[in-house]
Amino acid sequence: MKNNKLVIVGVGHVGSQVLTDALALNLFAEIAVIDQDREKAEGEALDGSHITPFTYCPNTELYAADYDTCKDADVIIVAAGPSVQKDAQFQDRGTLIGKNVSVIREVMAGISNYTKDAIIIFITNPLDSMVYLAGNFFDYPKNRIFGTGTCLDSARFRKIVANKYGVDPKSVHGYMLGEHGSTAFPVWSLLNIEGIGINRLDDYFSLDTPLDKEQIAQNVVETGFDILHLKGWTNSGVAMAACTLAKAVMLDEHSIFPVSTTLNGEYGLSEVALSLPCVIGRQGVEKRLAVPLDEDELGKLRATADSIRGTMKIGGL
Ligand code: LAC
Repeated sequence: MKNNKLVIVGVGHVGSQVLTDALALNLFAEIAVIDQDREKAEGEALDGSHITPFTYCPNTELYAADYDTCKDADVIIVAAGPSVQKDAQFQDRGTLIGKNVSVIREVMAGISNYTKDAIIIFITNPLDSMVYLAGNFFDYPKNRIFGTGTCLDSARFRKIVANKYGVDPKSVHGYMLGEHGSTAFPVWSLLNIEGIGINRLDDYFSLDTPLDKEQIAQNVVETGFDILHLKGWTNSGVAMAACTLAKAVMLDEHSIFPVSTTLNGEYGLSEVALSLPCVIGRQGVEKRLAVPLDEDELGKLRATADSIRGTMKIGGL
């Protein structure tokens, strides 16, 4: 009988946190771990196996494996490759393109040798370029490939806005769209707190200081580097984003998240991967939603697409 199976490729700080969060989902009977450092993979699997006696978790089977384990995987989460380093002179995920193009080429070659059915969720940066590479340079169904993208940036955006208004971030509904990077932008025109739109919030909430939209947008895109400078890496937010998306796949939720996919003419854009709200279910990306954007937001979307294409060009994509 086939088990619900997750494969994690790359178990550095992010992949290790994905393993812990995935166990807590209570969704997978098997979690296989692939890493170029086999001992690290074996250590993560062994360490993770000691979680199940302490919590109500199915007795998930955890093990280190090679790419042949992908043949019966339901979801594959890819966190392989180096991240931006704490002391890096220029803090930009795009600087990773030279290294991670070859990493993701190797990962996709490994996966696609054994499966075309698994849903692949990418975390590796520069994220949008990696999603474009995986979805367009390998014979793999595009709808089964997406990246965490601005799902993480949107969580950061919602948390910052929630703090400003003194409410639970789960009650703040809004998106950062475009690049998982410095050109991501907030869609203020669609932001709402339980249905109360941005232009009516003053009727319900009083603020200590005026809402500075530009500052908040800047704070969001800089948060990843703030965390990097404080702890040396980021992993908690993006791992939970990836596992939340994996749950949407496994439970066929048809829930909507801003994730990075290759566009197919939305807003007149193609030959680029970036984050738009997408319906996520058992078949992966079921639908991309070209939500209504005002002129300023449309301009930012075109600019973010250009920024991503610039990174892709450096990587030879
Ligand atoms: C961050 C990494 C995942 O923004 O790019 O935390």
